[in-house]
Amino acid sequence: MDWFVWDFNHPAYFTIYADKARDAALEGPALAKLLDLPPGSLVLDLPCGWGRLHPHLKSRGLRVIGGDLSPLNLTKHRASHPAPLARLDFRALPFRPASVDGVFCAFTSWGYFATDSENLRQLAEFARVLRPGGALLLDLAGRSFLQDSMAEVAGIWLEFPEDGYQERTQWSSDRRRILTERTCQGAAFCHDIWIPTDAEVRAFLEEAGLSVEQAYGGLDGRPWEEGAERWIYRAIKR
Ligand SMILES: C[S@@+](CC[C@H](N)C(=O)[O-])C[C@H]1O[C@@H](n2cnc3c(N)ncnc32)[C@H](O)[C@@H]1O
Repeated sequence: MDWFVWDFNHPAYFTIYADKARDAALEGPALAKLLDLPPGSLVLDLPCGWGRLHPHLKSRGLRVIGGDLSPLNLTKHRASHPAPLARLDFRALPFRPASVDGVFCAFTSWGYFATDSENLRQLAEFARVLRPGGALLLDLAGRSFLQDSMAEVAGIWLEFPEDGYQERTQWSSDRRRILTERTCQGAAFCHDIWIPTDAEVRAFLEEAGLSVEQAYGGLDGRPWEEGAERWIYRAIKR
């Protein structure tokens, strides 16, 4: 089974990422603002997860459809934030070409697939469903920041007793991907995420038919910089 099918569809996911529920109050309004689409625009929240950012997209007057692979996340989304939702895989979106104004892809939700062609396919699917002139907001973890923050702890098991899990992160041998192993609630998980360079992000967006219009280095819309914790790209469908 692909890691992303298992890791995100287990109740432990909500324990491990409990802080992201709290962060939503800050991230949601900021990212929705950076998406920068007028009220009434139709936006796909891909992946929507459990809908933590959904209210903030709605409060900007956007019409929002959520999509995610995880039935568990979609069930939680439905219960807490009722909305049009679809179970889907990034590689084959169930939407018509040029049918939406925006795609909102928050919290490092790209780079999950094992091959470059599948990761490109995800962006190409985003581009396919966007109308010409429509916008993708792609919110990623900055590679250099991760590199620095992992330097002291790579390969070491860390305990998070209050949150009920253990974690060990390390780079893959080619240093393209980060493997994050966790144990929680008696189960084992291992995220395996490609962490692209800025040049790679831009090249993949370009190849998918998306032109980077803005690159930000933070939720407040500061300019992109190599060492920023987040790399947030607003790209336009050609
Ligand atoms: C880190 S979470 C981010 C969710 C949401 N954007 C947020 O900010 O809370 C990643 C999400 O991607 C979903 N996902 C993983 N692989 C997927 C795939 N191949 N197709 C669609 N969704 C996928 C997971 O189920 C999970 O909900």
